[in-house]
Amino acid sequence: MKNGAPIVFAITGASGAPYAVRLLEQLLVAERKISLIVSSYGLRLLSTETDIKSIDALRDRVGANAWAKHVTVFANDDRGAAPASGSAKTAGMVVCPCSMGTLSAISIGASRSLIERAADVTLKERRKLILMPRETPLSAIHLGNMLRLARAGAVILPASPAFYNRPQKLEDAIDFVVARILDQLEVENTLVKRWKGN
Ligand SMILES: Cc1cc2nc3c(=O)[nH]c(=O)nc-3n(C[C@H](O)[C@H](O)[C@H](O)COP(=O)(O)O)c2cc1C
Repeated sequence: MKNGAPIVFAITGASGAPYAVRLLEQLLVAERKISLIVSSYGLRLLSTETDIKSIDALRDRVGANAWAKHVTVFANDDRGAAPASGSAKTAGMVVCPCSMGTLSAISIGASRSLIERAADVTLKERRKLILMPRETPLSAIHLGNMLRLARAGAVILPASPAFYNRPQKLEDAIDFVVARILDQLEVENTLVKRWKGN
């Protein structure tokens, strides 16, 4: 992946907004360019699960200076924005968290929003698409959609923290999942100790 091209970062309305905030913070620490798209339910979940009630509040949480340098925000109903075209270079896309609704739409190429279209473009251009779904239990429909996406080249990276590293607090569990996403994006990180065997 190229350092210069932005990572498309979509936040949708599945539970797990704290993962999105932490991932965004870490991408800014790594000085990566971000094309940010937040669905209306993504914002609702940010508001429900964190103290962040607006995009401006998200900016203030992750740091206004870094945001001004690295983040471009796109409206989810603007399917004419840069991430809607394969000719706009990107360093891949992550949907964190990814609702079952958005996952379903991406799996059939619906492209009815900028998030869905940008994901469709990411797949057709053979760039890395990382989806962090959160739902439980999973129906055959959810599983079928995930299988179709995995076969199309997407990385399905569920919000599944591990316990072998003995997390002491919620932030440790969040960091475990965020580190796995950063690894997929090839962003150097030291968020969690790497397993070296017993
Ligand atoms: C409090 C709350 C929690 C939700 N949690 C989930 C969830 O964990 N997974 C999921 O797939 N949908 C969840 N939903 C439903 C989605 O937000 C809903 O299907 C929405 O239309 C998704 O739209 P989006 O993908 O455009 O953000 C939740 C909704 C609310 C209000």
